[in-house]
Amino acid sequence: MPGSVKIKTINHVGIPIWDRRVSLKFYRDILGLQVIPSMVDSPNIVWTKTLDGTMVHLIEPTDGENLVSPHIAFEVEDFDSAVDALRGSGYPEITDPGERHDGQRCIFINDNDGNRLEFATASGLRTSTRVADALGYTTKSGKNEVVVSHSKTKILTINHVGLPINDRAECMGMYRDLLNIEVIPHQIDGNTLTWTEMPDGSMVHVIDPPKLIGPRGDGRQHVAFEVADIEATAEALIEADVEIVDGIGTRHDGQQYLFIYDPDGNRLEIATRGDHSNTPRTADENGYTSENGELL
Ligand SMILES: [Fe+2]
Ligand SMILES: [Fe+2]
Repeated sequence: MPGSVKIKTINHVGIPIWDRRVSLKFYRDILGLQVIPSMVDSPNIVWTKTLDGTMVHLIEPTDGENLVSPHIAFEVEDFDSAVDALRGSGYPEITDPGERHDGQRCIFINDNDGNRLEFATASGLRTSTRVADALGYTTKSGKNEVVVSHSKTKILTINHVGLPINDRAECMGMYRDLLNIEVIPHQIDGNTLTWTEMPDGSMVHVIDPPKLIGPRGDGRQHVAFEVADIEATAEALIEADVEIVDGIGTRHDGQQYLFIYDPDGNRLEIATRGDHSNTPRTADENGYTSENGELL
């Protein structure tokens, strides 16, 4: 074991989009995410943030033709030792570390199933004069064009990310062993996924291959945004003509959820924060969950 990584939270997610003009009508105007200046040179990325500062990067095709892969960026406690541990881990497609205009350092790697993972320091380590226009196009200095959102949807943070995997025991070599993310009992029916939780309560759910794949894909890859009031959010979504494809449902820890799609077909979940502190459930080392001693 080449040492391990201490994850604090989710710093941001990267979501593939075709056209920011279309996507921002959804993410900025309906979901209420705030456009902020980008701290990278690529003109293809729109930086936005939720209310607690967790970011959502909307990424247009960098070659003009192909959507990029989604990614999740973890914030780590000690970046240099994380780089050492990742380099020694044998996981593929590792990049060289990079540094952004605000001093944030980052490195990328893939898990066994090809999920793109980024590891980064906190954001905003250096002050920056960079400014963004309403579409997130960023320049080195000038006037920052803050668009006041009239959205009734208040996205507090990212609650969790769902990742497609093939073999839970195998993928735990990454999430449980290398990244030290705690395996916890899941709070849904069946035993088709593993819940893992970071110190601040944000989660990664790694999800087994499904028995059926619908016309919009299998739905495992998703980002779950956290809200305080899911009924009010559902009303705002319906008012904005966003189709709620599943929910409002309630999980065993009281977490409420619903599912929608963005204009490019990315599956998104809206969820409240559950309270699984007193769960009667237990999980084995790979997240297979039992209740009252019975495997679900
Ligand atoms: Fe990223
Ligand atoms: Fe989810």
